[in-house]
Amino acid sequence: MNVAAQPKGQTKTLSERADELEHHMEEELERIVTKSLLFNLADGRVGMDSSVALNAKYPGKYMLMGDDPRLPKMPAKPQLLDYFHFRFASMNHLLQSATHALKAGLPEKVILACLLHDIGVCGFIRADHGYWGAQMIEPYVDEEVSWAIRVHQALRFFPDESVGYKYPDMYVKNFGPDYKPEPYIVREYEEARKHKWYMTARQICVNDIYSFDPNAKVDINDFVDIVGRNFRQPKEGLGWDSSPSAHMWRTLMRPTRFL
Ligand SMILES: [Fe+2]
Ligand SMILES: [Fe+2]
Repeated sequence: MNVAAQPKGQTKTLSERADELEHHMEEELERIVTKSLLFNLADGRVGMDSSVALNAKYPGKYMLMGDDPRLPKMPAKPQLLDYFHFRFASMNHLLQSATHALKAGLPEKVILACLLHDIGVCGFIRADHGYWGAQMIEPYVDEEVSWAIRVHQALRFFPDESVGYKYPDMYVKNFGPDYKPEPYIVREYEEARKHKWYMTARQICVNDIYSFDPNAKVDINDFVDIVGRNFRQPKEGLGWDSSPSAHMWRTLMRPTRFL
């Protein structure tokens, strides 16, 4: 709707127009699609629509309990790389990082860790991305891989001159020169420093920092075999199995399911 064409005094605010658009979109859908609290929190709203309110707003419609028709359809038995294609916001950063590790001749475990290190960011939620990402893959990979991904979040903030890793300039740019990691991150770093797999996690940082070239040539097919050998793909499809993190993959598959 053209705001300028409205009678004087009736101009709608941006958020009113957004609500109107969302309402219009909801009406077009066969089922009621609603936002969970977390999606609303990201918009600065503490709250969500109740089923009573939704039923009143969309009489005669059922709640969405399956696929969201607005999202790309996923295969019946999705594999890890299907999530890369159909759900992740971007895979370029992951592929660049893994390509860097591949070219450096690092072990497959490290290459896989680089390939998956930021799936928290591009595939789930930014906040505490190392922890979320590690939890998502934990049942399907070698323990060393998920451990390294968990702690890379902390290690990123601390230099290690022995491998040429400096505090990232990008962090100064993004968080300001005075940013200090919180105590739980410092603790995680100190613990990780003494751990037998420290260098695996550190390699994620080393390969990560050079991985922001928009022109780098990368190909997911370079990693199909490594994923095949190192990621235990459940036969039911990732998300339809019974692992402790299957629900996270199901949530990614169907993020707007009512329950
Ligand atoms: Fe990261
Ligand atoms: Fe990264």
